[in-house]
Amino acid sequence: MGCMDLRQWIELLEREGEVRRITAQVDWDREIGTISRKVLEREGPALLFENIKDYGNARGRKVFSGGIGTRKRLALALGFPKDATNAEIVQYVMKKNQEQIPPVLVPTGPVKENIVLGDAVDLLEFPVPKWHYLEGGRYINTYACIVTRDPDTRVQNVGIYRGMVGKKNSIPTLLIKGGQHWGQHFAKYADRGEKMPVACVIGWDPIMGFLAGSPLPAGVCEFDVLGAYRDAAVPVVKCETVDLEVPASAEMVIEGFIDPDPASYETEGPFAEFTGYVSDLPTPRPTIAVTCVTHRDDPILRGTQEGNMPGSYSENAVISSAQRAGIAWNILRSNGVPGVLDVYADPVTCGINIYIKIKKQFQGHAKQVANALWGNSAGQGRYKHVFVFEHDIDVTNYQQMDWAIAYRVNAGHGGITIFPETFGHALDPSTPLEERNVEQLGSGTWNRVLVDATRSWKFQRRPEWNNERFPPTVEPSAADEQLVIDRWAEYGLD
Ligand SMILES: Cc1cc2nc3c(=O)[nH]c(=O)nc-3n(C[C@H](O)[C@H](O)[C@H](O)COP(=O)(O)O)c2cc1C
Repeated sequence: MGCMDLRQWIELLEREGEVRRITAQVDWDREIGTISRKVLEREGPALLFENIKDYGNARGRKVFSGGIGTRKRLALALGFPKDATNAEIVQYVMKKNQEQIPPVLVPTGPVKENIVLGDAVDLLEFPVPKWHYLEGGRYINTYACIVTRDPDTRVQNVGIYRGMVGKKNSIPTLLIKGGQHWGQHFAKYADRGEKMPVACVIGWDPIMGFLAGSPLPAGVCEFDVLGAYRDAAVPVVKCETVDLEVPASAEMVIEGFIDPDPASYETEGPFAEFTGYVSDLPTPRPTIAVTCVTHRDDPILRGTQEGNMPGSYSENAVISSAQRAGIAWNILRSNGVPGVLDVYADPVTCGINIYIKIKKQFQGHAKQVANALWGNSAGQGRYKHVFVFEHDIDVTNYQQMDWAIAYRVNAGHGGITIFPETFGHALDPSTPLEERNVEQLGSGTWNRVLVDATRSWKFQRRPEWNNERFPPTVEPSAADEQLVIDRWAEYGLD
């Protein structure tokens, strides 16, 4: 379908009745965030705020949020009809994540309509929301796709990482050195004693965030994969002050450098995070010193309400439920794990819990599933709890899974395995703060759990049980059931 910029995406959503323009005046200070939360609770439309207090005549006047806030809108972004099934989307993601079309460099584009350099930069000329009352500041990077370059290979990476307005031209960030790709780049620049160039791309094709917010393998540039999703090369332009390339029709690009010297760190956090908790403390963190902002005329600041709770989940959740399931399934496939029939990540945990359905082929099968997921870098911040079920259990159905956990898991006989002190997410509130100090440890720490809810093969087959290892269920025999169905009307039960 070709790449689309944010304005074309909003037009498409408008045609589908999936976006509301809010023309009533709203406050950037918590009101935009709270409206977004209430709309998420209703699985409501994407929101374009056009009249923001204090910003009537500012450089930036609009905020757009919720573009992929529901599974229907994710389907539209991917070019599917709104009612595409989970399986259709996950299978498509598994295929497309592995294809690439490199970007094409173009001389200029709408993102260069305005160029603000050096001291003239003031990030608060844009209507940056304070999304939640407990947050440490105004978060400009909630859906910004941050471009960095591996200094050894020169391959670019694009990832979504949060960032708060610090000074008028600085963005302290949560930068996790030990797993995420910009963290790996940062460690390399630090070893060379160099600052890391970054470009924060705000507002473009909806697939950009879908890919940037997901762990594609190291060395794969998300713009190349985006080209494959759209079957068209991404048109990119060179940045003004950093050696990076960014989409030519993005709404805004914030350029700058991150200095590895802790003396340059500014205080960041807390943030109302994807876990559903405001889960860390204000901490001095690596900081983008902004050197330039380029933007379109009348730029739209793309942002998102990030936290997830039952009945109220975010764009990250919708993205993760498709991507984290697809990525897990690809990991299992490439590691040769046999018999995988389905993989499900419920939006509410963004893939922290993952449910796998297999056709069991040997006693340690579930452990092979967990080993593969826990050994892959994509599992660093996800797949903390792995649940494995057999082919007769629907892994999107909690009642079926609960029943299997109740009667197929025997914790004393290998049904539950704990893999202690592995790498893990830094924002999980169940990990004590000192075990998720990324400055000291490089990443968070997790005690991971496998729940093997498959029937054990340690039991002997028994003739009384139709030669199976497990007893029969209480379901009537097929013949008995047919007889009753045939006579149903006679019983007066219709
Ligand atoms: C909407 C959205 C917001 C996200 N926000 C953050 C964030 O603030 N900090 C973070 O570390 N990861 C965040 N993530 C997850 C990362 O983007 C994800 O781990 C991704 O794999 C990072 O890119 P990388 O694998 O190239 O490092 C977010 C994901 C999405 C979809």
